[in-house]
Amino acid sequence: MAKEIPWKEYFHRGRKSNLSKLTVRAWCLCRTRLLWGWRLHALGSRTVLPRDTFINNPCAVSIGSYVTFGNHLLLADLLCERCESPKIVIGDGCMILHRFQCNAAESVQIGQHVLIASNVFITDSDHVVEPGGVPVTVNRKLVTKPVIIGDNCWIGQNASVLKGVTIGSDSIIGAGSVVTHDVPSCSVVAGNPAEVIKKLSKNSRAVKYIKVH
Ligand SMILES: CC(C)(COP(=O)(O)OP(=O)(O)OC[C@H]1O[C@@H](n2cnc3c(N)ncnc32)[C@H](O)[C@@H]1OP(=O)(O)O)[C@@H](O)C(=O)NCCC(=O)NCCS
Repeated sequence: MAKEIPWKEYFHRGRKSNLSKLTVRAWCLCRTRLLWGWRLHALGSRTVLPRDTFINNPCAVSIGSYVTFGNHLLLADLLCERCESPKIVIGDGCMILHRFQCNAAESVQIGQHVLIASNVFITDSDHVVEPGGVPVTVNRKLVTKPVIIGDNCWIGQNASVLKGVTIGSDSIIGAGSVVTHDVPSCSVVAGNPAEVIKKLSKNSRAVKYIKVH
């Protein structure tokens, strides 16, 4: 039977290749620590934030260890207030690709080892439009419901996860999906609104798909 390789060892594979790569990585780690380490609620080891990161309220954001990001990262605390506990939590070992945007007014929790493709949008809130009332651009009212994303999920390109959604662990969100309702663990969902199209079976070592319709 093949020997199990701990995930941290996978993370380091291919990164040891040459001195110049190591130097760039060491510089990126230092830059992340200097620019963000003391401002974020928490920042784990070996995590690198891209140069074009925008976080309007760093003390509301907690990022775990060994997290990889693509470019153009936007993490927004919509209320931009002092908070005891972080509103945006990103777990250890996540891989988040380009142009990720996360808006949180209450709470967005992303578990461990979550793979998020490019252009993904996650929000825990909606603006309030009051006909004849305060214009939406200056109306600070929001409807909020926390978002939770379980461990080991894969969120496909251009997907949106909207307020109040809990995605169970080991699930797949199809490209371009708009997730408006909870997703059970080990499910594949797709479409707008996203619906379960398959279930993943954990019974054998090779993952089995079970078609739902
Ligand atoms: C969700 C996904 C993983 C499903 O793959 P799959 O298991 O091979 O699914 P299938 O191709 O068998 O499709 C099953 C059904 O769901 C539909 N479907 C699959 N993906 C869909 C999507 N993203 N949106 C809407 N419908 C989708 C298919 O049209 C098919 O419908 P049908 O049975 O009526 O023909 C895949 O389609 C997907 O979206 N991958 C994301 C790719 C990506 O974002 N990559 C970024 C790299 S990090």
